[in-house]
Amino acid sequence: MPLASPTSLFFRNAAQLLTLAGSPVPRRGTALGELRIIPHGGLLTEGETILRVGPTRSLEREALRLGAEATDCRGRVVMPGFVDSHTHLIFASSRVNDYELRLRGKTYEEIARAGGGIQSSAERIRKTGVSALAQQARKFLEQFAAHGTTTVEVKSGYGLDIAQEAKILRVIQALQAEAALNLVPTLLALHSLPESFRGRPRQYVDHVIKRLIPLAAGGDVPPDVAPGFSPAHAARKGGTETPGAALKGGATKPKDQATRERLAEFIDCFCDRGAFSVEDCRRVLEAGREFGLVPRIHAEQLSRTGAARLGIELNAASADHLDKVSAADIRALARSEVVATLVPGANFHLGLKAYPPARKLIDAGAAVALATDFNPGTSPTLNMQFILSLACAQMQMTPAEAIAAATINGASALGRSDRVGSLEAGKQADLIALDVEDYREIPYYFAVNHCVMTVKRGRVIYLRK
Ligand code: NIG
Ligand code: FE
Repeated sequence: MPLASPTSLFFRNAAQLLTLAGSPVPRRGTALGELRIIPHGGLLTEGETILRVGPTRSLEREALRLGAEATDCRGRVVMPGFVDSHTHLIFASSRVNDYELRLRGKTYEEIARAGGGIQSSAERIRKTGVSALAQQARKFLEQFAAHGTTTVEVKSGYGLDIAQEAKILRVIQALQAEAALNLVPTLLALHSLPESFRGRPRQYVDHVIKRLIPLAAGGDVPPDVAPGFSPAHAARKGGTETPGAALKGGATKPKDQATRERLAEFIDCFCDRGAFSVEDCRRVLEAGREFGLVPRIHAEQLSRTGAARLGIELNAASADHLDKVSAADIRALARSEVVATLVPGANFHLGLKAYPPARKLIDAGAAVALATDFNPGTSPTLNMQFILSLACAQMQMTPAEAIAAATINGASALGRSDRVGSLEAGKQADLIALDVEDYREIPYYFAVNHCVMTVKRGRVIYLRK
């Protein structure tokens, strides 16, 4: 199998081809468990797009006419690439010290209050240049692809000041330009209150609204701020030079251009005990929305604050975590368009006994998605297959529901369900082949990588040796 990109590929004889075709999206209730499986399935691509999906026999003639390059998928499940709609990909190093402290009995919040946690990740970001950040992220992106993920949302958030956040957003932008996967950038505008604003969250929120949001949205940055983003300043700080250039060691773009590029599509806030209040998050998400950034929110992870209600009020794309939602919150989410994104990797890594109430959310009619929450503090996994295993074993989701939550509903949470998340003619040719005959074996044989091939935009980007 060449790694080049022939104009047409023909995947033949999949034991099960999971199309996840049909509407409406996102999937809710019983529709979440409908994978629309084609036995002995075939799929034909043309360029970056899916041309046709059906029983293999029905596609043979057209494949021949197109001179498509055929791949035999006998004994394999073929399905859409995973859409991981919640990651914190850009960080400088692991937090293995926090990990060991937790194993010795300290809690996540105790470690954070003692200066570990997000603050320690921010310190390390400050000391790390764009090239090193990009290099590490690149390595992880290769692993994402090897585990079957084809679209990844990427949050900033370990900057905790304007220059460092800008630096992270520019690393994401540079990676977007070069990566095989689609990266979806999110400004995580409120994550943890920086030391320099201790006791003054309101002022920090003002600062974020006045300076960070306009910068991320590519709008006008007030003149007293813009000089802080000049390439010279960036270079001194190890910092905010345009990354394409920075990564190649080339020249930087002029300042006015650099400050007017849209660096994020979504805006997110960590709304929780020990993080930011509903009021602070409302102000920031509303400000982001005015700049065209679509809200999403870290909600009800450590405590019930009303963050999910805020997400609903603002018509957020998603409310994520949701460990502590109330029965009334569940009903409200079910009535809303907000995608309830569950990230059980965080519960697993933190060693928690309780998991988010997936069953109640699904049965109430909420649109549930699954994501890794890949980050160094609470969920250092990028393997969506393992997330499926957690969803089934710990949250009583069926394998079919978990797969739909990790593909079409993830795509919906990112506003991309028209392009990715299912295998249907006209959609982007993002698909994976797994070395199992029955899709239920994906979560069942847990903690191994079943993915043998990843196709992104009609091009094979990973092939198991
Ligand atoms: O999604 N909840 C906030 N943010 C991350 C954790 C961040 C960290 O500890 O580094 C999360 O779990
Ligand atoms: Fe997160």
